[in-house]
Amino acid sequence: MAVTSEEHTASDSMPVIGKLVVVGLGLIGGSLAMGLRQRHACREAIGVVRRPDAGRKAIELGVVDRVVDDLSAVAPELGEGDVIFIAVPTLAVESVLAAIRDQVSPAVTITDGASVKGSVRSAAESVYGQSPAQLVLGHPIAGSERSGVTASNPDLYENHRVILTPLPETGAVHLERVRALWQAVGAEVLDMSVEEHDQVLGATSHLPHAIAYSLVDTLAEDIGNPNIFRYAAGGFRDFTRIASSDPVMWHDIMKANRGAVLDSLDLFIDNLTRLRAAIDREDSEYLLGVFTRAKAARDHFTNILAKRAFIPAMTTGKIDYLLQPGGAVTGTIRVPGDKSISHRSIMLGSLADGVTEVEGFLEGEDALATLQAFRDMGVVIEGPSEGRVKIHGVGLHGLKAPKKPLYIGNSGTTIRLMSGILAGQAFDSEISGDESLAKRPMDRVANPLREMGAVVDTAEGGRPPLKIKGGQALNGIDYELPMASAQVKSCVLLAGLYAQGTTRVTEPAPTRDHTERMLTGFGYEVKKDGAVAELTGGGHLTATKIEVPADISSATFFMVAASIAPGSDLTLTHVGINPTRVGVINILKAMGADLTLSNERTVGGEPVADIRVRYAPLKGIHIPEDQVPLAIDEFPALFIAAACAEGETVLTGAEELRVKESDRIQAMADGLTTFGIAAKPTPDGIVIQGGTMGGGEVETHHDHRIAMSFAIAALRATQPIRVKDATNVATSFPTFVELAKQTGISLEVIDH
Ligand code: S3P
Repeated sequence: MAVTSEEHTASDSMPVIGKLVVVGLGLIGGSLAMGLRQRHACREAIGVVRRPDAGRKAIELGVVDRVVDDLSAVAPELGEGDVIFIAVPTLAVESVLAAIRDQVSPAVTITDGASVKGSVRSAAESVYGQSPAQLVLGHPIAGSERSGVTASNPDLYENHRVILTPLPETGAVHLERVRALWQAVGAEVLDMSVEEHDQVLGATSHLPHAIAYSLVDTLAEDIGNPNIFRYAAGGFRDFTRIASSDPVMWHDIMKANRGAVLDSLDLFIDNLTRLRAAIDREDSEYLLGVFTRAKAARDHFTNILAKRAFIPAMTTGKIDYLLQPGGAVTGTIRVPGDKSISHRSIMLGSLADGVTEVEGFLEGEDALATLQAFRDMGVVIEGPSEGRVKIHGVGLHGLKAPKKPLYIGNSGTTIRLMSGILAGQAFDSEISGDESLAKRPMDRVANPLREMGAVVDTAEGGRPPLKIKGGQALNGIDYELPMASAQVKSCVLLAGLYAQGTTRVTEPAPTRDHTERMLTGFGYEVKKDGAVAELTGGGHLTATKIEVPADISSATFFMVAASIAPGSDLTLTHVGINPTRVGVINILKAMGADLTLSNERTVGGEPVADIRVRYAPLKGIHIPEDQVPLAIDEFPALFIAAACAEGETVLTGAEELRVKESDRIQAMADGLTTFGIAAKPTPDGIVIQGGTMGGGEVETHHDHRIAMSFAIAALRATQPIRVKDATNVATSFPTFVELAKQTGISLEVIDH
């Protein structure tokens, strides 16, 4: 039998292979054939189909160009550049390979789509003696509960992952051909070992299928009510969709990946048994623990899915900002919660006795990284939901060893403060983060912790990851901070909670004092005397209520925006104005900005106010060095103010800016230079001549504050500005784009 089809449809690309022969024209095979055909990425697509009606359907639907009823009808015409795709149930692959061995030239590339790779490797070895160079094992991570050729979808693989598991015997040309074939239908191809593939898929795909089949069977067979499905609603539907998948295919997968499936089933059965026991004894803590952790994990997965299917966190597509020049900012806004206080609320709430309730929590990636780290150490945390978080404290000695290294993304505050807490635990731990964090200095915390008796290892050059040995007896120290750093001060004080005796820190200049204030709020005595803060180990923290004020560091972008853009009049409400954070207000005022504070009050131990900012011409100043630690995070935005000011602005004594999320002196100098502003970096600061800003493309070096600073610069630019890679704005200011647009900044997000 040989039937031919109509013309090809849409054209996207050049052929990447010769002929494609699909053995097993179901959803997986049919979708590949149709996808390649529609993109003109193969010269011809041929289906091997036993049932004539299925063959006719495949041609009618445009899945293939022609069909044959046996491989032998097409084998003689295949050669170099052609590909056979085996898309039959896993346990049937061996018989297809045997037919191929007898009929097909070694020049032809063979690949498959089976969900288990170990069994296909064994099949190849038993057919060929050893796996042939022409065979490339693969697995597209895509599918649906629908099956059969009529379910074929030419875009099924678009933005999905395909895993290839090359063997030592696999030929490079064949491997690259298969990679190109999948890329041609829009898939992202990655390589893995056979073992890793089978283990990962055993857990993430095979286990859920086993559970879904078993659950539906339980409901259908064992729960005596014949009307049971009439009462089943969304929960049932969502959970069991995959129980409609092809039974033969899944029968094969369970057998082919028996070992890995059993391992994950055992783990699941253990957990289910524990859950059963918790329900039986009405253990709310346990139930909330499981449910909040699972919800967080699932929400995280949903976020990943929203961007792109099956791409792991932190490598999701980057975004740029495109800004049109000019405009003004007006209105009344509240920026999200303070990052420093949000971190500390989770840390201290976790270490307290009792339940701490937080309002105004910053739902940015950095604070969420802290939250996740404490969940990983066994703390039950409800939320966040609209800024509300409930932390079921475990006491100073109640943390549990995390099952894997703690990953905290971009957050310097998390790693530095947490190292102090982890140094006092009975268990070993490891903390790591992203590319930008991996460059940041950690000796500044490792050194004092070692002086206290902690065992802390860093990577080369004192960088993350940090490995901290548990079970060490810590002693209080009298520590003079070599630099003005609230993170280092806080790290030492937090380790001091676990130390024998008194821990005393002296700072060279005042830095943010949230740790001291909040410890006091949790009922832990901290003595303050000028530059000295001290506490004595061995006490305990008592749960409290925390209201997180709006972050003055986030408000800064809008304070500068309103100050530089003629016609602006903006009010920022409920902004934290802790005296150790108000450098930006002092500096802007000294430059001539029009800022007025009203409605000043104290909430939860922190002073807050509404800040009204109206446009006013700015002038350059020499920034007083005593203001530097009080405005340490605000300089990127202040440099934009300086670029718009009349005359010269000089910053000195700010070498710390070189070791933030990026080298902020260099990053800002480079961007300002692109805009046509004279900005000269110095070892500990910068000299900026105010002038007219043009526009152009600027780099952020993964730094959220650099991205937001260049964005507000557009208000006074004369040309459009493209801020390249603004992805990390989500670490501290997840609603920046929304608020920028709302106040009048012309900002477009470009996703790529
Ligand atoms: C922070 C302290 C500062 C600041 C950071 C948050 C804190 O860092 O830059 O964004 O929450 O303690 P340093 O201690 O390194 O100055």
